[in-house]
Order: sequence, then C-alpha cells, then structure tokens
Amino acid sequence: MKKTWWKEAVIYQIYPRSFMDSNGDGIGDLKGITSRLDYLKYLGIDVIWLSPVYQSPNDDNGYDISDYQAIMDEFGTMEDFDEMLAAAHERGIRIVMDLVVNHTSDEHKWFMESRKSKDNAYRDYYIWRDGKDAQTPPNNWGSCFGGSAWQYDEETAMYYLHLFSKKQPDLNWDNPKVRQEVFDMMTWWCDKGIDGFRMDVISMISKTKEMPDGEIQGLYGSFGPYCVHGPNVHNYLQEMNEKVLSKYDIMTVGETAGVTTELAKQYAGEDTHELNMVFQFEHVEGDGKYGKWTDEKMSLTTLKKTMSRWQTELYGQAWNSLFWDNHDQPRAVSRFGDDRPQFREASAKMLATCLHMQQGTPYIYQGEELGMTNYPFQSPDDFRDIESINAYREWCAEGSLSHEVFWPCIIYKSRDNARTPVQWDDSPQAGFTTGTPWIAVNPNYKKINAKAETADQDSVFHYYKKLIALRKANPIMVYGKYELLLADSEELFVYTRTLEEEKLLVVCSFCDHETSFTIPEEFAGASCLIANMENAYDKPEMTLQAYEAFVLLKN
Ligand code: GLC
Ligand code: CA
Repeated sequence: MKKTWWKEAVIYQIYPRSFMDSNGDGIGDLKGITSRLDYLKYLGIDVIWLSPVYQSPNDDNGYDISDYQAIMDEFGTMEDFDEMLAAAHERGIRIVMDLVVNHTSDEHKWFMESRKSKDNAYRDYYIWRDGKDAQTPPNNWGSCFGGSAWQYDEETAMYYLHLFSKKQPDLNWDNPKVRQEVFDMMTWWCDKGIDGFRMDVISMISKTKEMPDGEIQGLYGSFGPYCVHGPNVHNYLQEMNEKVLSKYDIMTVGETAGVTTELAKQYAGEDTHELNMVFQFEHVEGDGKYGKWTDEKMSLTTLKKTMSRWQTELYGQAWNSLFWDNHDQPRAVSRFGDDRPQFREASAKMLATCLHMQQGTPYIYQGEELGMTNYPFQSPDDFRDIESINAYREWCAEGSLSHEVFWPCIIYKSRDNARTPVQWDDSPQAGFTTGTPWIAVNPNYKKINAKAETADQDSVFHYYKKLIALRKANPIMVYGKYELLLADSEELFVYTRTLEEEKLLVVCSFCDHETSFTIPEEFAGASCLIANMENAYDKPEMTLQAYEAFVLLKN
C-alpha cells in the first residue's frame, strides 16, 4: 500500500456560517476562521475542509454558487481568504475547498444566459427538456429537497433539471465547454495555493441520455439509476485528473452518495487516476422510516457489518474517509452515542476511539471534538435548512403524517442539528457572535464549550487531541489490516489492526450498562494506548462500564 500524506492526515471540517463570527452580524466568516486557527493547531489537525465560501444567494447555504471565483459577501473578501490561507499554511495546516460543480445557482451568469433563449451560447450548459405536455414535467423524478426535479421556465417554455432545489440547476457535463470551464476554475484555485478539493455529489455529474420515469419512492420517482454513477462519470473524473489534479500535490475526496465498495475501487483506487478517497454514507443511511427520516437508532450489528465490509474490501486497493457526522448529519454523540448528561462525555470519547482506530482518513466535524449535541428543536419555525423546512411541509403539513409521528423523526435527523454555532465559551451566544446568530445556539453551551474543555485534561477535546497525536506516532493506525471480532454482539464493537509485528486491540462498548469482556490471549501483557476510563488490563476477564473504550498495543 502506498504511503501518502493524505492517508496519514486528520481532517477538520468547517461550516463557515456557524464557526466564528468576527464582526457581530451573526454570521460566521473568514476572519473568524483565521482567528481560531491556533485552536485547530493546538488540537493537532492537518487539513481543513472548508464548506463553500463562494458567492451565493444561499438557498442551500453556499451549495448554490453564483460565482466560483468570488467570496460570499457575508464571509468577507478575497483578501480575507488569502490571509486565512497564508495563516493556515504558516501553521502547517492545509485547506481543501468544497467543489460544487454538479450544479450552480440559478443566479450564476451561465444560467441567466442559458434560460434566455434556445440558441443562447450557454443553452447547453444545463439540461433542458420539453415537458410531456404544458402541465407535466419530462418525467416523474423527485428532487432531493422535495417536489419535482424539473422546473418549468416560461421564457422558453421548457423544463430544466435540478436534482436539488430549483435554485440549483444541474450542469450538463456532457458539454465539453462546461468541463473546460470547471477545469479552468479549479486550476485557478490550485494556482492560488489551495490544497485540494472535496467534491460535492460528484457521483451525480453524468446523466443518462434517456430519462425515463423512475420507480416511485414516496411521492416521486427515483432518479438514482439514471443520474448516480452515470455512464461517463469515470471518464470525466479521469479527464479532470489528467488536466488538473495530476499537476498538483493536492488531496481529493469525492462525496459519492450511493457508492458500493466495488465502485469505490474505481473512484478511489490506488491506480485508477480519479480521486484519492471516497466519502460514502452506507453506515449513516438506510435507517429511515419516512425517506431519510427516523427516530430509531441503527442496530450495532448492522453498523459493524457495514463498517467492517468497507474496512476489508478496500484494504490495499482503495481509500475511504472515516466520519460519524458532518454538516448534513445529526450530531454523532446524539445519534451513535448517548447525549444524556451522565453518558455524553464517555460515549463521545468511545465513538472517537472506534472511528480513529479504523483504516481511512478521519474527519472531525466542527464541535464534534467538544462532544456537541443535537439541538432541542421546539417548533418547525426553529429550522433554517431548506431540506428540513421542505420535508416538514411535504410529509406533515401537506402530507399524511401527523405532527406527533413526524416530529421526533425530523428533529433526530435534521441537518440543522449540526449547524448550530460552535460553542467557544460560556459568554452570551457561546462566544460565537456579539450579535444575533443566524441560527440559535444550543442552550447547553454553558457546560459544553471550547474554553472549558481546553482547560480540562479529561475533556472530550483533550481525548481527540490525544487520538490525533497517537496517529502520528503509530503507523499501524493508518496502515494496519483490520479484523472484526464478536460480530454478533449488540453491545461491543471490537476489532484488531495488524501491521508487521504489531497488533492493536480496539474495544468499544456501545451500551449504557456494564458488560463483560475477555481479552484475547495474544494481548496478554499488551500496553494501553488510550482509554476513556480507568481499568486494569492485566487479567483477561474484565467488567466494562457503560460506553467504556480502550486500545491495547502488542509489539
Ligand atoms: C451535498 C452537500 C449538501 C448539499 C447538497 C447539494 O450533499 O453536502 O449540504 O445540500 O450536496 O449541493
Ligand atoms: Ca460575520
């Protein structure tokens, strides 16, 4: 297996709107990020994945871009960006940009031209089709954010495709001019000195020419078979690699919804010349009752089976990302751990152990290192996210589910859980802003905040810091071979990693009560690398406390 810096790195994701506000307008910004770089340096991370900072009307918080080479006014200026990049580099921190090129904003100049007339030079930059008739879209596909995936445009009496909101028209990647524009724009950013790209829904850029009705799922037909891993996606990524990526020492990660381990070997194979790694969702999906919405925890055996399959099938062939949450997922500790006060810290540390000891590049989502929790939403008015707002309307207000049934599901999974401001200290608004934040601060900030946790050696923060440092000192965490033990246990997640003469034993309790565990003989006399509570490892028979985790190293 090739050794590379991005396999050994730990990534920290910043969602700029909610990270740190420098000027009191309630919105996080670039100067805010610069002011917190020392905190990230202290934590020990290597790379920042910056969610979009480009000019955008913010229909989907920056994932709808109207100018790829300008900074969103609310976030600052290009000068602020350059300053932030230089300040990060001074500290040895790399910055990876979010590349959102499946779609643009409908306010992008390409789209404003495209919609003007059928013979406009930019017409074929997007995907236009005639309706079945004046009232009926070309097919039954639903968009990811509710409603039809087609929007009728009066100007030319045709429909355009939008797999996300109607303000996010899909680009036509089959048009070589579109690809060249994207590659030129990427080159411009690389020449500026950025360190890589996280590619938004990159598995959806190639669509089939034929666009038949999809299988009905909920209210609409599914576009999946026709737009996800479409016919030319690998050709286009290889072209991108040849024309841009291969020329720079950068890191690339593809958000590849719906990817299988087989396909991942193509997207992120050691020698396939596409991307460095995939970011896949199998372990955080498939638990929905109503679409993605649910209030139920996934069973531990299912979770282990999925994660272990990715560990073993990619070994030596392709590279994966490791994550529990991001800006599109609920908070890790509330979903996979236990956010009740008596268990929050232990379970947050346990989850971190379980993830960081696996093979892949770990991602920490802002606030995860503090054990930040889901938000106690009281009413639909609390939501800011287009997905949650539309889903509540479609399933509940206009749909057939009662509030009582749907509410626990939507508050458990809403993306807004991850988007409340980072809790910096116990001052008003958690030190995030001196003004009124664009989305409410979690009321638990007095207890859970960076100031308190950096001062406390036993905090979740210091546990993450230790895990990151261990990764630098122990190549086995990066390159070791994974093996799952106790596959059928609904209480314990136990696995080993092996590299040459060394072997790690990772033991994580996912339950809120005591359990027993027997240390395998081969780990007799092994030393403890990290643990989230005190215990003795010198006798094989052990009693584990709720959410206990430890790692033994035998060499
Ligand atoms: C990705 C982003 C998500 C966004 C969507 C559309 O899944 O992570 O936040 O809404 O793409 O760009
Ligand atoms: Ca601001």
